[in-house]
Amino acid sequence: MTLFRRSALAAGLATLLAGPALAQTQITIQHALPLNSHYGAGALAFQEALQRLTSNRFAVTIQRNDNEREMIESVQIGTLDCTITSTGPVGNFVPAVRNVDVPFLFRDYAHARGVLDSEIGQELLAQFTPRGLAGVIWMENGFRHLTNSRREVTTPEHVRGLKVRTMENQVHMRAFTALGALPTPMAFSELVPALQQGTVDGQENPIPVIVANNLNQVQRHLSLTAHVYSPAVLICSPATLAALSAEDRAHFMAAARAAQEANRNRVSEDERNGVDELRRRGMTVITEVDTAAFQNALAPAFAEFERTLDGALLRRIRDWRPAG
Ligand code: PAF
Repeated sequence: MTLFRRSALAAGLATLLAGPALAQTQITIQHALPLNSHYGAGALAFQEALQRLTSNRFAVTIQRNDNEREMIESVQIGTLDCTITSTGPVGNFVPAVRNVDVPFLFRDYAHARGVLDSEIGQELLAQFTPRGLAGVIWMENGFRHLTNSRREVTTPEHVRGLKVRTMENQVHMRAFTALGALPTPMAFSELVPALQQGTVDGQENPIPVIVANNLNQVQRHLSLTAHVYSPAVLICSPATLAALSAEDRAHFMAAARAAQEANRNRVSEDERNGVDELRRRGMTVITEVDTAAFQNALAPAFAEFERTLDGALLRRIRDWRPAG
């Protein structure tokens, strides 16, 4: 027997002993932030849990894409499995979601998380289905605060005339118009150049985003306005979910819950440390914000939201209290 035939036989025997090659199912998940962030923490937890629970029959790839509208479109046409996205552009696909984008709707994190985990959150997730999307689980981005390079903002008067980048979100744009700002909607991918070139004076984002993206390098003042809670959501392609067996679907949902927990824990941690970190990096942090004045200035927008959104749902959300 030649050396070649002997090694070919040995290779064949090794393959037989190892059994058939494992067919791995690839799942790609995209989000807009660095891996070292609250979305990255969620994506990593999802990856770890799904791969572990399926003994690596599934392989999860995490990618960054800082255009949230584009990611949702890709999920909708089925070229991307999943995205973790803020609700910023989601209302353009699932209009009911605009209700949770209303400023000063949620009192604090416990209120927001409680509502989104309750039947209200489930009802909203169900609204994704007729739009060709699967709303899997609520995650979060955090309470948004205003930054700018022109002045220290403590009252709505200081916002008047500021060019503020907003997400591509009708509710947020209406609110900033009511405050007398000039809202300029754009994808997050365009934000830093727009701030550097002076196309906009300011922007608004939660502390975890400001920290993870070093927005202190392009903005001087941070006002802790907490003007709106920014939910995030894990959205997947219905085709990706339909291809799962019942057992793998259970694993997928367990991984989604692990992602939610890791994401929220990281938001809480960034909330505890982020403001000090931004001070260390040289930002002026304005804590004395006149919240009541902001709420009063938004009164015309609030009246409009009661009519144009779902007034009954907004009341249910406001009135929500934890059980017991
Ligand atoms: O400002 C935004 O567009 C969003 O808050 C971001 C940073 C993409 C996170 O979802």
